[in-house]
Amino acid sequence: MPTNLIVLAAGAGTRMQSDRPKVLHELGGVPMFRHALAAGEALEPDRTVLVVGHGGDAVRKAALDFDPALVVAEQTEQLGTAHAVAAGRDALADRGGDVIVLYGDTPFVAAETLTRMAKARASGYDVVILGFEAADPARYGRLIMSGDRLERIVEFKDADDEERAVTFCNSGVVLADGALLFDLVDAVENNNAAGEYYLTDIVEIANARGLSCTAIACDEAETLGINTRTELAAAEQIFQTAARDRALEAGVTLVAPETVHFALDTLLGRDVIVEPNVVFAEGVTVESGARIRAFSHLEACHVGGGAVVGPYARLRPGAEIGNDARVGNFVEIKNALLGEGAKVNHLTYVGDATVGAAANLGAGTVTCNYDGVFKHRTEIGARAFIGSNTMLVAPVSVGDDAMTASGSVITEDVPEAAMAVARAKQTNKPGLAKRLMERLRATKAARKKD
Ligand code: UD1
Ligand code: CA
Repeated sequence: MPTNLIVLAAGAGTRMQSDRPKVLHELGGVPMFRHALAAGEALEPDRTVLVVGHGGDAVRKAALDFDPALVVAEQTEQLGTAHAVAAGRDALADRGGDVIVLYGDTPFVAAETLTRMAKARASGYDVVILGFEAADPARYGRLIMSGDRLERIVEFKDADDEERAVTFCNSGVVLADGALLFDLVDAVENNNAAGEYYLTDIVEIANARGLSCTAIACDEAETLGINTRTELAAAEQIFQTAARDRALEAGVTLVAPETVHFALDTLLGRDVIVEPNVVFAEGVTVESGARIRAFSHLEACHVGGGAVVGPYARLRPGAEIGNDARVGNFVEIKNALLGEGAKVNHLTYVGDATVGAAANLGAGTVTCNYDGVFKHRTEIGARAFIGSNTMLVAPVSVGDDAMTASGSVITEDVPEAAMAVARAKQTNKPGLAKRLMERLRATKAARKKD
């Protein structure tokens, strides 16, 4: 049965005290709503709809930048969770199958939990709700069960003392047939304590129509919602701890796990070694056997097997480091391909470039890729040797097996196997250094006497 995903992300997030929409605050290096999308992947959604409201334009842009196949639906007024689900209706009008509702501010729902909900659906229940035993049920909606059947959900505000004593609570996640869900949502009214259209009311309506509802339970930690900066900071810690554990279990060495920061999509191969104080921003893959040395920052890049990066290296978007290549201290690489076994060991900037296999870039090499308006490419051939402090003024190429003399400013292409020297010729003035020093010292001594 195909499943479609609706992620609710229209709320104001007032308690964040922010000009930025809540779901755009970052968790694990990516906007928070991306965690709900990632969880939803467990059900291989046919179509995913993000319901936006507050800061809708910014959220829409972030969503479509990430995945142009996402559908963004607008909920201009936030009249409640049922009203928010209804905002997703048009986007799914041409789609059959089930709909699962997740929240953009609830990042930790496990894939395995959603799979269990799908099983409950497949076993015949019309509506499946995700619940949890709350340590402190506080203001959560209460799930009123009768055996395996869910009778209704009572919001805290509307609950009596007996209902408030129930500790089995609503996470907000709902799974049902799509057409049925929209039908039930249509029947929801707002005559309650909050004056809102509660999504939770669909359970009582479904039961009144002779349909069947159930709730399955997950760990309370999965239902953690983010409403404040404090909760965001706590969620970050939870995310990082889990990411480190997953890496360690997958055969990655983390020398000081608590100092390594992961993003939602970080992929590290077996036997990768990560030294202390390394940050993985979004979009990093490191192949088996590579070593990321201390204090390096990697973003949207790929590191080949056996490569060594750092200490103090910066890999920016589009850095593609070949197998067994070396990127040393204070080296920045951006949108550049480093061939197998190439070495860029010290104090170098390589941007918009291709570096051939086994090439060697000396200390202080700079690809001058930007003329103030346009970016230009530098091509360096296999086994080329770039002398220290060479400025490669792009667009420019250095052929295979070619060399540049150190201190050169290379503005013209260097043919294969050639040696390029592009610097002023050296002249030595015999004795001049000594004479100059003597004159300066004499001047200083004369000034002291005055
Ligand atoms: C909801 C549930 C409650 C559950 C709790 C779990 C309802 C009526 N109540 O309550 O049973 O225990 O979640 O956290 O569903 N949203 C919109 N548009 C709206 C309203 C909400 O997009 O018009 C989004 C919010 O941005 C948020 C989510 O839906 O991500 C939940 O809304 P919120 O107002 O926080 O619901 P709760 O009162 O927490
Ligand atoms: Ca909430």
